Amino acid sequence: MILAIDTSCDETAAALTEGRRVISNVIYSQILIHKKWGGVVPSLAKRAHEKKIDKVIDEVIKKAKKKDIDYIAVTQGPGLAVALEVGIKKAKELAKKYDKKLVAVNHLEGHIYSPFVQNSKGNPNIDFDFPYLVLIASGGHTSLLIFKDHLQYQVLGETVDDAAGEALDKAAKLLGLGYPGGPVIERLSQQVDNKDFYRFPRPMLQSNNLNFSFSGLKTSFYYFLKKINQADKLLNIKLLASSFQEAVFDTLIKKTEKAINLTKINHLLVVGGVSANLRLKTLMKRMIKKHQGKILFPPNKNLTGDNAAMIGVAAYYKVLQNKWVRNIDSLDRIPRLNFNF
Ligand code: KG4
Ligand code: ZN
Repeated sequence: MILAIDTSCDETAAALTEGRRVISNVIYSQILIHKKWGGVVPSLAKRAHEKKIDKVIDEVIKKAKKKDIDYIAVTQGPGLAVALEVGIKKAKELAKKYDKKLVAVNHLEGHIYSPFVQNSKGNPNIDFDFPYLVLIASGGHTSLLIFKDHLQYQVLGETVDDAAGEALDKAAKLLGLGYPGGPVIERLSQQVDNKDFYRFPRPMLQSNNLNFSFSGLKTSFYYFLKKINQADKLLNIKLLASSFQEAVFDTLIKKTEKAINLTKINHLLVVGGVSANLRLKTLMKRMIKKHQGKILFPPNKNLTGDNAAMIGVAAYYKVLQNKWVRNIDSLDRIPRLNFNF
């Protein structure tokens, strides 16, 4: 069994996993702490992680019937330096105290494995069928990559500025909708029929590469809101939220489609916090059908956002390849960890 820890951003998460199965999974979200600041405040995140980490680990162990832990896994990066630090310190401490092997996991690798995470009974039981095209859409990342085989990735494109979730969060802030913005925007957009009323610009669709950019859209949204008066803004808030969401999702869909055409890979994984969005799921399914492909999402909401279960499962595949940390003391966080490891 693997005890996995993730403190990469604003959730303190621990899980016990066995192969691809989740034995127990605990996520303490700091949303209430950061909400009033309209985004994650690093110093508050650090303090909250420190306050909760022991409790979250105790709880995850208490919930499991079996307690035979063989490995400790921890997110090394990417993420918030002061937040990552808390999980890594704890993981090192536990690995030494109980003489366990320590596995360092890339947070994005965790997201990539999330569609394959199973419940304690082994469901859903989907076999790996490489290669996959992966779209990661979260608060910190928007990336397209090829998942070639276990632990083998090739990055095709990334955002050059804001991530998709970050763009949704910023738009929600401009609309006065609070943090995090993605779920609120989703809820408002469900209440309108004409989902793309304003037709905001689609960033980077003209460019020939597979990179994303959302800052142009954010700026044009900002100036559009400045132009209209407060009453109009409030009156049309659902249409504004929905049109912004459509512009972001249209970009995600078209770039993913471009990647399918380029790579001829029509097995798609869509992961990360934004992949919880039902509108995105519908649009992605529609697109992949045109390409006679298959699509997988994380099986439930606990696995779309940040969690430690996905870290435990990715760690399992690292253990199978003997990829654990040889010198525990030397393990350090890498806030900008990428796929060249
Ligand atoms: O993966 P995640 O929990 O954390 C990161 O690794 O960044 O992603 C968080 C992001 C936030 O920007 C949040 O607004 C967005 O995911 N999000 C959503 C939804 N739920 C969370 N975006 C759109 N629709 C949702 N239902
Ligand atoms: Zn994440």
